[in-house]
Amino acid sequence: MSDIIVVAVLNAKGGVGKTLFATQLAVRACEDFSMVALIDLDPSAGARSWFESRGKQDGEIEQPTAFVGVSNPADAVETAERAGYEIAFLDGAPNTLDATRRAIDVANVVLIPERVGHVDTKQSALVAKLCADAGVPAIAVINDIPPPSARRTYQTERAEIIAKEVADFGLPVIQVINRDAYAQAGDYGLGVHEISGRASTDAKKEIDQIYAAIAEIVEGKK
Ligand SMILES: Nc1ncnc2c1ncn2[C@@H]1O[C@H](COP(=O)(O)OP(=O)(O)OP(=O)(O)O)[C@@H](O)[C@H]1O
Ligand SMILES: [Mg+2]
Repeated sequence: MSDIIVVAVLNAKGGVGKTLFATQLAVRACEDFSMVALIDLDPSAGARSWFESRGKQDGEIEQPTAFVGVSNPADAVETAERAGYEIAFLDGAPNTLDATRRAIDVANVVLIPERVGHVDTKQSALVAKLCADAGVPAIAVINDIPPPSARRTYQTERAEIIAKEVADFGLPVIQVINRDAYAQAGDYGLGVHEISGRASTDAKKEIDQIYAAIAEIVEGKK
C-alpha cells in the first residue's frame, strides 16, 4: 500500500461537479500539504483546463500540480508519489464505468457527486455499489441544490426526495448549493479558498465540510 493519500471524485454521469470538487478540494488541501497533485482522468481535460486558467502547464510545479492520468490512474498516482506528492485528487471522466473502476482501485476514499435528479441518483448508486464491492469508503454529495428561497418550488421538493434516496446508500451525505462562487472559481482557475469576500464564505464552508469528511475517513484508516 502506498503512502500517498488518494481521493477520487467519480460518477459516470457527466456535468455533476467532479471537476469542481477535485479542483476545489485540491486547493483546500494546499493549506495542509505542501505537495498536492490533481490528476485528470478525463480526456476532455476539465482539471487541466482549470489549471491552465491559473496560467500553468501540465506538470509545472505549482500547488496543486496537474497531472494527466487518462490512460492509467495507477501509473499517474505512482508518478505523483515518486515525485513526492503527499495527496492526490483524481478528477474522473464521465461515461466510462471501466475507468471509474480503475480509479476506485487506487483510491483511499471516493467522493460521488450528483446533481438533483433521478438519473443522477441511479448513476451515483452504481458508483456507491462499485465502492462497496471494492471495500473503498465513499461520501455522496448532492450538488447544485437550488439556493434557499422563501417559496417552495418543485425543485426544492425534488431535492428533498433525492436526499432521502441518497441517504439509503448508507454513506455520509453532504449537500452543496448552486453558488456563483463555484462557477467563478471554475472559470478563473481558482479555489473558493483563494477568493475573498462574502460571496465565497458559504462555498468555503461547504468545501471545508467535504474536506473534513474525507480527512475523518483517511485518519480513521491510519
Ligand atoms: N454547486 C454549483 N454551483 C454553481 N455551479 C456549479 C455547481 N456545481 C457545478 N457547477 C458548474 O457546472 C458545470 C459542470 O460542473 P463540472 O465541470 O465540475 O462537472 P463534471 O462532473 O466534471 O462534468 P464532466 O462530466 O463533463 O467532466 C461547471 O461549469 C461548474 O462550474
Ligand atoms: Mg469534469
